Amino acid sequence: MKIEAVRVISFSPTGGSKKVAEAIAKGIQAPVESIDLTPPSARTQDFPEFTDELVIISVPVYAGRVPTEAAYRIRRLTSKREPYGAKRPQKIPAVIVVTYGNRAYEDALYELGDIVSEVGFQPIAAGVFLCEHSFSVPEMPTAHGRPDAKDLAKAKAFGKQIRDKYAKADKIENLSLVTPPGTTPYSLSMRANLTWYDYGALATPSTNEDQCTKCGTCVDVCPTAAIRIQHVASNPSPMIGYNLRLISTDHNACIWCCACVKNCPTGARVMSKRVLKSQSDLNKGYPDRKEPETYL
Ligand SMILES: Cc1cc2nc3c(=O)[nH]c(=O)nc-3n(C[C@H](O)[C@H](O)[C@H](O)COP(=O)(O)O)c2cc1C
Ligand code: SF4
Ligand code: SF4
Repeated sequence: MKIEAVRVISFSPTGGSKKVAEAIAKGIQAPVESIDLTPPSARTQDFPEFTDELVIISVPVYAGRVPTEAAYRIRRLTSKREPYGAKRPQKIPAVIVVTYGNRAYEDALYELGDIVSEVGFQPIAAGVFLCEHSFSVPEMPTAHGRPDAKDLAKAKAFGKQIRDKYAKADKIENLSLVTPPGTTPYSLSMRANLTWYDYGALATPSTNEDQCTKCGTCVDVCPTAAIRIQHVASNPSPMIGYNLRLISTDHNACIWCCACVKNCPTGARVMSKRVLKSQSDLNKGYPDRKEPETYL
């Protein structure tokens, strides 16, 4: 069987998961279409129907699990096809991928397999890849700069193996399914930690207004629309005219992905002390390079 088309579906606030999925698709060597689940619009938009393409679904690991926001958006992918009482869509072959920042992926890959299966996909291959930790900073790096050329070469080779797996099967039903490593009930260890640390508002990035040009990049890259440029005050007088705008962040919407910090062109957007403390622990605790794992 030949793979006619590939759909790369990613939730990827800092871009690593998307990069890995694209490299896998390159190895498959079929026409590629992308569905980006990262922008806030993915919470409401309608997605195109799935026919006979292979999908690659790639997400980061947050606290050893699939980020809640990613799970919500993946569950919406096929919901339009499934009005109340209707049959589930037929099984669509899927490559499931999680990326993590050199600590651990715990049960995230297993959980992703469950989530995609719930909404009509069936995992026929699974991969775990390393990406720069969202909290990583050059002074205290964790997997900084990953996925690197070696990681992307492995992702591409994995894509080629998936193509070979297809070539050996005569029809979709005969593609063997993968059981990713992991277990249920899913690990809660890190989620418990997050509560203990009182992460919430304390973990949200802040803005150094003196350095901020109000360019709006952070607003554009925020996956949950947590950031607004707020008009605070103005005085139209030509002599003392001013227009005061400040960056405001909704702590309840922030998922601490650090996309705003990593994309801010002036360095005005900064990680919280709480996140930098975590990063210091990560930097000391996980210095050894981990390598990708693939399952077919
Ligand atoms: C809130 C949060 C929790 C995270 N938890 C973990 C974790 O449990 N283990 C780990 O190794 N990396 C963890 N990471 C790092 C991300 O998994 C890693 O940086 C990921 O590859 C980023 O993907 P992206 O570039 O597609 O956004 C976490 C990142 C964030 C923002
Ligand atoms: S990206 Fe940086 S400079 Fe631009 S508005 Fe946001 S905080 Fe300000
Ligand atoms: S405000 Fe929070 S959710 Fe939005 S980009 Fe920044 S860290 Fe991510």
